[in-house]
Amino acid sequence: MGPCGALGLGLLLGAVFGTAAELHTLRYISTAMTDPGPGQPWFVDVGYVDGELFTHYNSTARRAVSRTEWIAANTDQQYWDSETETSQRSGQIDRDDLGTLQRRYNQTGGSHTVQPMYGCDILEDGTIRGYRQDAYDGRDFIAFDKGTMTLTAAVPEAVPTKRKWEEGDYAEGLKQYLEETCVEWLRRYVEYGKAELGRRERPEVRVWGKEADGILTLSCRAHGFYPRPIAVSWLKDGRCGARTPSRGGIVPNGDGTYHTWVTTDAQPGDGDKYQCRVEHASLPQPGLYSWEPPQPNLVPIVAGVAVAIVAIAIVVGVGFIIYRRHAGKKGKGYNIAPDREGGSSSSSTGSNPAI
Ligand SMILES: *[C@@H]1O[C@H](CO)[C@@H](O)[C@H](O)[C@H]1NC(C)=O
Ligand SMILES: *[C@@H]1O[C@H](CO)[C@@H](O)[C@H](O)[C@H]1NC(C)=O
Repeated sequence: MGPCGALGLGLLLGAVFGTAAELHTLRYISTAMTDPGPGQPWFVDVGYVDGELFTHYNSTARRAVSRTEWIAANTDQQYWDSETETSQRSGQIDRDDLGTLQRRYNQTGGSHTVQPMYGCDILEDGTIRGYRQDAYDGRDFIAFDKGTMTLTAAVPEAVPTKRKWEEGDYAEGLKQYLEETCVEWLRRYVEYGKAELGRRERPEVRVWGKEADGILTLSCRAHGFYPRPIAVSWLKDGRCGARTPSRGGIVPNGDGTYHTWVTTDAQPGDGDKYQCRVEHASLPQPGLYSWEPPQPNLVPIVAGVAVAIVAIAIVVGVGFIIYRRHAGKKGKGYNIAPDREGGSSSSSTGSNPAI
């Protein structure tokens, strides 16, 4: 993988811990709300393998349920009972946390959310990554990185939490869970779902340019690919470092595939060659998709010339006939027919604005 691709992957995956690509991921996210809205559960707990939702729990149903065929087919009642119990316990903890944090922030009401997320990744180079990140009201609160065994308080209100977690042996227990239990289950889930998760769908790639205010914005869009990791970058004259691209995230389509896009700014007519480079598991080699400046449309010119020729031919033909008539010859316009045929097909092409 070229340096461009590695950078692209890092940026696109939001891989804050390094640049090696994720091979498999297991991620749990729970959300507890003081104010869920009418008819909505106040607590939701979901799990993802390789970005695919596979388990769901909410405080209305109070049962963990499978969200994919492969997990349903490979698990028994005992598994779901145990998942249900874990989620119920998490819900209780999150509810207590909502109370604690409102007190700590001196909040007497309003709408509040706590959102812990944790998981483990197996990277392409075989290393394991594990983390836990908690958010309060949508902002980072505290984070744990297994690699460095550090807890980071993102806001002053999280310092008491950091101290408490450090004093207990919480960090040690979390590290063990992330390294052992989490990875074991991830391997198992990947095995259960290998037909589904191991599939490869090639991206459809489209490049186009749009000019405004003297800036030519080139867009590259990859659509319909699976799995999620992808690196899309713009090359200028075959090299990395085309100017400040803006990027879309890797967004799920409704059908289990993903799409993403990257743009770059170019000078119109600067003669540089721009190519969009796409690296994906479905492609044996990175795909290169060139942007071609639009060619001047020759059709109207060709049609115009044809019309002119026909017009000249008609004038010449009519002139010839008139000459012949005036000259008192017999043959009547036998040479008009071919000209008229040619004229009608040529002018229909020339007057069609769609072409
Ligand atoms: C809550 O879970 C049940 C089944 O577990 C599901 O049918 C329902 O749609 C869920 N509610 C929401 C709001 O997601
Ligand atoms: C919370 O309120 C108390 C009493 O009004 C005050 O002493 C304290 O500084 C406040 N804390 C925060 C974080 O605002």
